[in-house]
Amino acid sequence: MKQFVSILAVLLIAGTAYAATEGEYDLPHNDVGDTDSLQRGARYFVNYCLGCHSAEYVRYSRVAEDLGIPEDQLVENLMFTGEQPFDTMTNSMQPEDADRWFGVVPPDMSLLARSRGTDYIYSFLRGFYASPDRPTGVDNTVLPGTAMPHVLWELQGVPNAIFTTDAAGNEHFEQFERGVPGQLSAEEFDGVVRDIVNFLDYISEPMQLERQALGIRVIAFLLVFLVLAYLLKKEIWKDVK
Ligand code: HEC
Repeated sequence: MKQFVSILAVLLIAGTAYAATEGEYDLPHNDVGDTDSLQRGARYFVNYCLGCHSAEYVRYSRVAEDLGIPEDQLVENLMFTGEQPFDTMTNSMQPEDADRWFGVVPPDMSLLARSRGTDYIYSFLRGFYASPDRPTGVDNTVLPGTAMPHVLWELQGVPNAIFTTDAAGNEHFEQFERGVPGQLSAEEFDGVVRDIVNFLDYISEPMQLERQALGIRVIAFLLVFLVLAYLLKKEIWKDVK
């Protein structure tokens, strides 16, 4: 018993320590079961990201099917340059050009939500701030010195960032301050980013929609089966006392 209590205590302490380290990035609280959000995210992704970032393992037709988008709407809203529905989501940017323009090739987005984490992407997209000395005019709190421009600046505007300098002369990010205003309020902008992250989360594992639905059906079956098994057991043992 004593051993059990000490194991429990160790687990509790470890758990609390783990939770405490979690706060590095803001959580998007996205929901891949929310089809409306996924549809909006797909539209934002095509409009604001696909020009630089491909999603080369993702077919338009699969997205349309999973998100319940009819084919005419698919072509009208998501496919602008004569792609076919069974094409994958690529762009015409040549890696050599990208390298020359940005000094780095924008990563493919198919699996990025899994390799980087949705919290990372959510914070990165909300982390741009004005930095006039940089070639893009912005820097990023999550990825300092990033080559990516602030592509959502029309929506968000361009915030300023306040830094404090500690005794050793290192700068620490303190908070954002309203800078150039954008079209959206802060909450609305967070909503847009949440939709984008949601879409990236979904494409990184399209099966998760099915897996969750299947999981619920399996649990439901097991519950029904539990009742049957219990009744059966009572029936079989009723004469054996
Ligand atoms: C104008 C081209 C361009 C557009 C448009 C663009 N990006 Fe990027 N993005 C880049 C480049 C270049 C990098 C590599 C940045 C680096 O490594 O410094 C990058 C990197 C990233 C990263 C990875 C950061 C990391 O840690 O490696 C994420 C996430 C990202 N972009 C998301 C997006 C999303 C989401 C959109 C659409 C809202 C978008 N990008 C639109 C150019 C672009």
